[in-house]
Amino acid sequence: MSAITNLTRTWLTRSVKPFLFTNEYDQRLPYETCENLGLYIHIPFCESVCNFCPYCKTVYSETLCDHYLDALLQEIHMVGRQMEGEKTVTSLYFGGGTPALAADRIGEIIEAVGEYFIITEGIGVELHPDNVKVPVLRMLHAAGVTKISIGIQSFQEKFQQVLGRKPVDLPAMKAALQEVPFETVSMDFIFALPGQSFEDLRTDIDSAFANGANHIAIYPFIDFTFTESSVRIQPKKKKRKLLDDITRYCLGRGYVRSSIWTFAKEEEARYSSMTRDNFLGFGCSATTLLKEQFKINTFSVEAYCERIQSGKLPTSLTLRFTRRQRMVYYLFWTAYSTRVDAAEFERFFGVSLRRMYGTALLMARLLGLVTWEDNLYTMTLKGAFYYHYYEKFYTLAYIDKMWGIMRREAFPEQIRL
Ligand SMILES: C[S@@+](CC[C@H](N)C(=O)[O-])C[C@H]1O[C@@H](n2cnc3c(N)ncnc32)[C@H](O)[C@@H]1O
Ligand code: SF4
Repeated sequence: MSAITNLTRTWLTRSVKPFLFTNEYDQRLPYETCENLGLYIHIPFCESVCNFCPYCKTVYSETLCDHYLDALLQEIHMVGRQMEGEKTVTSLYFGGGTPALAADRIGEIIEAVGEYFIITEGIGVELHPDNVKVPVLRMLHAAGVTKISIGIQSFQEKFQQVLGRKPVDLPAMKAALQEVPFETVSMDFIFALPGQSFEDLRTDIDSAFANGANHIAIYPFIDFTFTESSVRIQPKKKKRKLLDDITRYCLGRGYVRSSIWTFAKEEEARYSSMTRDNFLGFGCSATTLLKEQFKINTFSVEAYCERIQSGKLPTSLTLRFTRRQRMVYYLFWTAYSTRVDAAEFERFFGVSLRRMYGTALLMARLLGLVTWEDNLYTMTLKGAFYYHYYEKFYTLAYIDKMWGIMRREAFPEQIRL
């Protein structure tokens, strides 16, 4: 598996140089000149933790959460103050964990962000189905949240049991969503679970859109080595058929494919913190992608608070890009949207996409993975599957390894990928 990612990395970056993350870091982050910058805030608390979930999270306690949020506010001020005046950013997403558990302090955080950043495309927050209650939704709405994403996983008891999740009270959820409307209401599902058929998924998609969602995300189940899940995923062929069937069904119903795994009822409904050219991340495990570097904050809540209290940024590791490495990162994240705009690439790097990756793109076109029109490369159904398939290798070779280490060590010396 890592042979595949190593070979691809070597070919695309034209170098055998690995991605080297080290513990030296910048106290001042050069984000002033970054265009199309997004913001992400991580809140790592959940009422109980699911054994299949790889994210940085711990069991909620009010005291710990308050202590953490105080540190988070300091991190925002520390980074925000570095720039004179206000910086325009696209969006702000709160992820976790379950950020809605801190609904009563989301307004305070948004206010702190607002001292330094002007958000143009809205604010999103992740919720567990248990948080979809009128008082929580009202607090979020009053704080300025415009998008919510609810982790449903499956509406069906057999799959909820497989994942160790509780049943969802659909009528109560629908009523709460009707009472407090948001621009985007997204619902997350997981596919390729044992015995799951297209019919099961179609029923879930229809239920989501009939009960308050205008956007859905359907993620393939990923079996991370450090999680304790015993779920056996379906083989490649079946997975591909499921992904193709879901895509055809959604496109046939007129839904817009906004990224590899997301579909929207209306063009305006969007929920994605991933497809940004650059982003600033705050909180435990949050990542930051800038023109010349990628950095990742410590995964330890305790170490995070201590670093902030000592007046320093909680960065655990930094990767300084070569130009080609940055191009690969750019293409990888942009491809999430299923489209790569050659003009945008050229604006970002000052060199044409065809000049840098002409042969690879021609091969992709000949293999039927992408189409090309008006300078826009768009993934075909086949291309989307292979991207999804490759992304799984990337996740297992890079993210699994990195997160596995970061969960054990707050500040590792270096990681070579
Ligand atoms: C931070 S959680 C969402 C909010 C909330 N904590 C919840 O679980 O309802 C983000 C999403 O990641 C997805 N996810 C978690 N573990 C996964 C795995 N092993 N494979 C694929 N998707 C996963 C789930 O769909 C989940 O809703
Ligand atoms: S899936 Fe959601 S609720 Fe479960 S552990 Fe992960 S972040 Fe927490």
